Formats: sequence, structure tokens, C-alpha cells
Amino acid sequence: MTRHVLEIDDLAPEELADVLARAADASPPPVLAGKGVALLFEKPSARTRNSMEMAVVQLGGHPVYIQPSEVGLDQRESIEDVARVFAGYYAVIGARVFRHSSCERMAAAIDGHGVATGVVNMLSDASHPLQALADLLTVRQEFGDLEGRSVAYVGDPNNVARSLGIACGMAGMGFRIASPAGYAFADEDLDRIRASGVEPFVTTDPGAAVSGADAVYTDVWVSMGEEAETKQKLDAFAGYTVDSALMGRAATGAILMHCLPAHDGQEVSREALEAPFSRVFPQAENRMHSARGLLWWLMEQNHG
Ligand code: CP
Ligand code: NVA
Repeated sequence: MTRHVLEIDDLAPEELADVLARAADASPPPVLAGKGVALLFEKPSARTRNSMEMAVVQLGGHPVYIQPSEVGLDQRESIEDVARVFAGYYAVIGARVFRHSSCERMAAAIDGHGVATGVVNMLSDASHPLQALADLLTVRQEFGDLEGRSVAYVGDPNNVARSLGIACGMAGMGFRIASPAGYAFADEDLDRIRASGVEPFVTTDPGAAVSGADAVYTDVWVSMGEEAETKQKLDAFAGYTVDSALMGRAATGAILMHCLPAHDGQEVSREALEAPFSRVFPQAENRMHSARGLLWWLMEQNHG
């Protein structure tokens, strides 16, 4: 059975720990030697494209960046046909898509034909598992362990927040989230987080969410693809900016995390991003280390 990573809980908790251990190994074997990885983007990217390209190179492979206009998913030809064709060239297909179902369709097309090419979700409207890996790596680097630590997410319950919440549950961590009325997680998202092993603390009060947390996390209020909702969301999220005053209500030694890109003065203040408690740039670097750990693990699963 070909392994795909469309959400972080496509890994078992012990597999997640294995990937994080591999992420810390700067001298991995060249498991991608002579092989290629497709990196297909329907949306812009700074971190994901570059960290994945470098991770592939560090594993001895060849990354190929593919723009949507070159492929025309479901326009020039179906997603299923593109996936089956790419499976003939590439050991892994990474895809950043608007609709999560596009990743699922790629994986299903591959599974239906017994091909060993894994699909990795590089961000969809539902999830961002690569980010969650880097997030856990960052918390572990800071505190030396994950079990018993807690993350407070302040802002939009989006793709990043969902994967983060699930990852926290899988790692034995607490997960707290503050968002305005009308912008809470759907019940099915909360159920998926609960199934990972954590009962999320849900509130509309940012101060209550961050109280005692080891890490305070935020992300943009308007995700890619939601641009038409910009004014409405900026109004709704006013008062949810993470700044030094809010950080002061977290645990002593708490760190600030953000997947980036950041919008100064919206979900986070520039002063907080630059403060001693900020870990956003090591967190961004960890995207490369965690991607390398994941690809190494995935190659052993599908091509070992
Ligand atoms: N955090 C993240 O995924 O960044 P990019 O959108 O730049 O890839
Ligand atoms: N939630 C954001 C994350 C960007 C890395 C988005 O989907 O645009």
C-alpha cells in the first residue's frame, strides 16, 4: 500500500516521532539518488517550494517545480491523469492545491494502479502537514521534549491551525485556540483534533487561550483563496493581534511561532516578531529539516 501524507495524522504517532528524529539528522543517506520529486503549486510559496527543493537535493534527488499553468489541472487534463503520468517519472509528488480533494484524487489515482509514488500535501484549504512537522520540531528544539507542552493558537482556525492541533494531540501536547465568534472550528475539525488525543481548549478570549501556554502561535487572517473575504475578516479579527502584551500572559519562557508569511499589525506585531521570544525564523528553517526527514521516511516506506 503506497503511503501518502495528506494530513499529519496519515502518520501514526510513532511514525511522527521517527520523522522528527530523522529531521535532526543533517547527514541522511542519499535515498533520492537518481530520482525526482514533483513540486506542483496552484498557489504562491516562499518556504514550501524552497525548503522542499533543498530537502530533495540534500537527499540526492532532483526537484522539479511545476506551475499550474504548465499543467492545467482539470483543464488541460484531469488531475487523475496528471498524477498517473507523474508517477511514472517521480518518486514523490508534492502538491499545493486550493481544494484538499485534489490531493485525495491524486492519491486515489495512484493507489488504483499499484504505483509506489507517494503524494505529499504541500498545503490545501484543509491542512498543512509539512508546517505541522516543522512546528513540532521547533517546540522540541526549544524545550527538549513535546509531551506535556502546550500551544495556544490565536487567530483564524484554518489549515495551519487544524494540522497543528492534530499534531499536538499526536505528540501528547495541549492545544488551545482563540478565535472570534463566527470563526470557530467546525465540529468535524474539532473531532479530528480530539481523535488525535487532545481535548482542545476553545475560547473567544486570546488572553485565556495563551494563559500558561509554552508557545503562542498565529497565522494570517486571510488565507490564500479567501481574498474576497478580506474586509469582513479583518473586521472580525480586530483585537486578536499577537503582541508583546499578549505574550506576557503566556508561561515564563514562552515562544512566539508563526508559519509565515506575516502581516505586520494584523495577526502579529512586527515588534513581537523581532522580540527575543520569537522563533519564527528558526521555525521557517525547520521547514527544510522536517521536509528532509519526511521524504527520507517516505522513501523507505514506498521504495525501501
Ligand atoms: N509557511 C508556508 O507554507 O509558507 P509558504 O506559503 O511561503 O510556502
Ligand atoms: N493559512 C495560510 C498559510 C500560508 C502558509 C494560507 O493558506 O494562505
